[in-house]
Amino acid sequence: GPATAALVASRVLDVPDFPKPGVMFKDLMPLFADGDTFRQVIDGIVAYHGRESFDVVVGIEARGFVVAAAIAYATGVGVVPVRKAGKLPRPAYSASYALEYGEATLEVHEDAFTAGHRVLVVDDVLATGGTAEATLDLVERAGGTVAGFTVLLELAFLGGRERLAPRPVHALLTV
Ligand code: PRP
Ligand code: MG
Repeated sequence: GPATAALVASRVLDVPDFPKPGVMFKDLMPLFADGDTFRQVIDGIVAYHGRESFDVVVGIEARGFVVAAAIAYATGVGVVPVRKAGKLPRPAYSASYALEYGEATLEVHEDAFTAGHRVLVVDDVLATGGTAEATLDLVERAGGTVAGFTVLLELAFLGGRERLAPRPVHALLTV
């Protein structure tokens, strides 16, 4: 709701020209670093989805791990990492997506999910949606059922929500 949106807005820093000229980086480290705000944000995500609506949480490397682990601990479910290519030690599914230059690949262990387990996917920021689209694809290929996708911050002008449609996106703050 509006209170949670205001919390996120109060703890995001705009960093111009990072990682390259012309890009405005949205830095959520101040939110992670503030215990009261972090707790309220995590509780807000859990309240939105309902703690009975998912069986496991997926966090997307790297910043999504922070959010996912907190939700998992708060609700007593487990956390499954979706990792960047080459990090997982056992057989894994891969999904690639285009970057401005080149491509990126994400992976999840083939046995990460019990069939039919409801998976809440979380990340810090939704920008173009490439990261999220690849992750939702991986969850489904590995036998999970996507129960929801939530980010702290959505950059609407980059069109991630449209890219993921008709799958619903929940964002605590949309700018
Ligand atoms: C950032 C951010 C999201 C993703 C969003 O991660 O944490 O995961 O970009 O962008 P997209 O919607 O255009 O795909 P990044 O890949 O920079 O890596 P990090 O989380 O490891 O810092
Ligand atoms: Mg990321």
